[in-house]
Amino acid sequence: MSYQINDTEFKRLSGLLYDIAGISLSDAKKVLMTGRLSKRLIALGLDTYTQYYKYVTDPSHADELRFMVDLLTTNETYFFREPQHFEFLKEILPKSTERGDVYHVWSAAASIGAEAYTIAMVLADKLGVDGAWEILGTDISHSVLEHARRGHYRLAEAEKIHLPYLKKFCLKGRDDQVGTFLIDKKLRQHVRFEQLNLNVEGMKKMGEFDVIFLRNVLIYFDIPTKQRVVANLIRSLKSGGYLIVGHSESLNGITNVLTAVKPTIYRKP
Ligand SMILES: C[S@@+](CC[C@H](N)C(=O)[O-])C[C@H]1O[C@@H](n2cnc3c(N)ncnc32)[C@H](O)[C@@H]1O
Repeated sequence: MSYQINDTEFKRLSGLLYDIAGISLSDAKKVLMTGRLSKRLIALGLDTYTQYYKYVTDPSHADELRFMVDLLTTNETYFFREPQHFEFLKEILPKSTERGDVYHVWSAAASIGAEAYTIAMVLADKLGVDGAWEILGTDISHSVLEHARRGHYRLAEAEKIHLPYLKKFCLKGRDDQVGTFLIDKKLRQHVRFEQLNLNVEGMKKMGEFDVIFLRNVLIYFDIPTKQRVVANLIRSLKSGGYLIVGHSESLNGITNVLTAVKPTIYRKP
């Protein structure tokens, strides 16, 4: 059976996604929506997207709303994506961390954790695997966070990890785990993942971070959403701390609190 979506159904469901996650889907994303949601209609035995909208907005089906957001977010990521940012991180890291002086980094749209573990490799290399540093990874999607917490990936995903890091921080799967690798526990114990929607007015402060990575998520937001999300993050950024966005993103016209250091890298005075 093929599930067609009409304009009204698409507007309602994309409006729901926008209200929750702040993600704006253009009309061109109809195929994406039906491609991703049709399996839910099948699983629930529903015939139309109108029925699905009623189901998902019924307060007794809150779990379905979670499924819907998980399915409609784009989670593409990889290790050492946009490598210049990790070179920059190496430059700004302190030589060592004093006792009690923990270096904090936040991967604020963490997806399956590749970004957070890339940061962990850089920090472990520079500050020591037993150094005082912590990484927080957050994402709106529950399913990607389960993957991130496992820290277990297909070997093909290790392609961009430099050999010395691979040798030091990753365990190659054997027997029934052949073709996979696991992030070493020594790194995983510095990294914690939490579910968090960045699109909440006055979102709680998440800590005091030296560096926040907010990469490849602003592209899904309109200007008011970008402004809200960035204002939320700035509250958790230390004075002198850095906010890093993706290479196709910019904070021009989004905030005047931060100073541009380089394209895509901003500093809180
Ligand atoms: C394309 S991935 C980027 C992953 C990583 N930062 C990178 O650059 O490789 C975008 C992530 O943003 C998350 N996301 C989208 N809207 C969000 C929101 N409102 N709050 C938190 N995370 C969100 C998605 O679930 C997805 O995992």
